[in-house]
Amino acid sequence: MAKKKTIYTCSFCGYQAPKWLGKCPDCDQWNCFYEEIQSKTARFAPDSSHAGENRPAPITTISFNKEDRILTTITELDRVLGGGLIPGGIVLIGGDPGIGKSTLVLQALIHAAKQNLKVLYVSGEESLRQIRMRAERLDDLPESLFILAETALEKICAAIKEFTPEVLVIDSVQTVYTSDLESAPGSVSQIREISSRLINLAKSTETASFLIGHVTKEGSIAGPRVMEHMVDTVLYFEGDRGHAYRILRAVKNRFGSTDEIGVFEMGSNGLSVVESPSELFISERPEDSPGSIVVPSIEGTRPILVEIQALVAPTSLSLPRRTAIGVDHNRASVLVAVLEKKLGLTLYNQDVFVNIAGGVRLNEPGVDLGIICSIVSSKLDKSVPAKTVVCGEVGLTGEIRAVSHISVRIKEASRLGFSTCIVPKTNIKNIHADMGMSIVGASTIQEAVDYMFKK
Ligand code: TYD
Ligand code: MG
Repeated sequence: MAKKKTIYTCSFCGYQAPKWLGKCPDCDQWNCFYEEIQSKTARFAPDSSHAGENRPAPITTISFNKEDRILTTITELDRVLGGGLIPGGIVLIGGDPGIGKSTLVLQALIHAAKQNLKVLYVSGEESLRQIRMRAERLDDLPESLFILAETALEKICAAIKEFTPEVLVIDSVQTVYTSDLESAPGSVSQIREISSRLINLAKSTETASFLIGHVTKEGSIAGPRVMEHMVDTVLYFEGDRGHAYRILRAVKNRFGSTDEIGVFEMGSNGLSVVESPSELFISERPEDSPGSIVVPSIEGTRPILVEIQALVAPTSLSLPRRTAIGVDHNRASVLVAVLEKKLGLTLYNQDVFVNIAGGVRLNEPGVDLGIICSIVSSKLDKSVPAKTVVCGEVGLTGEIRAVSHISVRIKEASRLGFSTCIVPKTNIKNIHADMGMSIVGASTIQEAVDYMFKK
């Protein structure tokens, strides 16, 4: 048997030491060393039987088939994956405990099994009976769905080799362990070893795999960052525990766009897809209340109407609070400063809170003008005109800049019954005349605010 040696590696810079260290001498990070095994025989030594076969080839001679994708037939999941799973592709799903990761992948497997695919669900967290109980709630169960409750990596790998599933789920990588390492399951070294072995196995057997990962307090997937580099796709499943809907977001995707989101609703029979998220997000909007405005935002290729709320209230602190939920905090602070300077709004003695209703998170600059208008609306205590939406990016000089996909945004707003849209003036030439909406172009925030609140 090959002799094994343990080394310790810094998870930030890769510095290696024979002993565990509290602080990395190279990058000065604390508590970042994890144990790794180094076997004397190189684990990734080329297979000598294939020596010389691997030659560079012209790209056009490589055969591929677009139809190779495995559809889970859960439309929102397939979209986020970039059009389905890829044989041999590894998808890592992270998310808070109890958000619905296990439910989502179990539903995906049930759908896959119904298409006569060979599927295997490996759980290290629940017993077979518990999985069955959960699955009963979700759907009629196909006989071709196989489940395994196991945490030992060697046994899982043996089962995969014997069963050769086409779609595989490991729930979760933090519970699986290998006895080659002394550290506890869930430690950085275990996770790194487990994921690299599982990924190699899945690639060599062309198994489309979902790995489920726990998240840390900071919200990133627990384990070494390298795990995110090793997999093909990283998805985060997020949402507010207090709300029924969940958002699946791609943060890395080798086989598709990372802008797509999938919206689901958790019910008593598991997750169901939400076809029209706009309706959901603005359904509880109070009419005629100052501080609230609807913005047609773009997530990936699809428009979503969201409600932005602002509350401006006199502060009792020497340093007024600027709180932003659902949008970048710095962005909101910049917009508050632009308002003070360009519109002369007195905000230095006011707390400003900005919130995207329903727990949605937006990273898109097109919502800037919405944030501006909602703050002004709350400060003046005047509600925005009925049936009006706004979109536009706001610059530091108070100018409104063009946004992408303007027609798609306007169409979505029109579909949901809005009649006026304030857009960046530079976008107007891209808008078709027959939108069924009155379009108002604004080139500065002064113009937009005058239109909204002075009429
Ligand atoms: P779960 O998939 O176990 O979350 P994770 O694997 O991310 O930890 O989801 C558990 C939650 O989902 C739990 O709080 C109950 C809820 N749930 C439903 O509301 N309806 C259902 O049909 C199922 C299966 C779960
Ligand atoms: Mg789970």
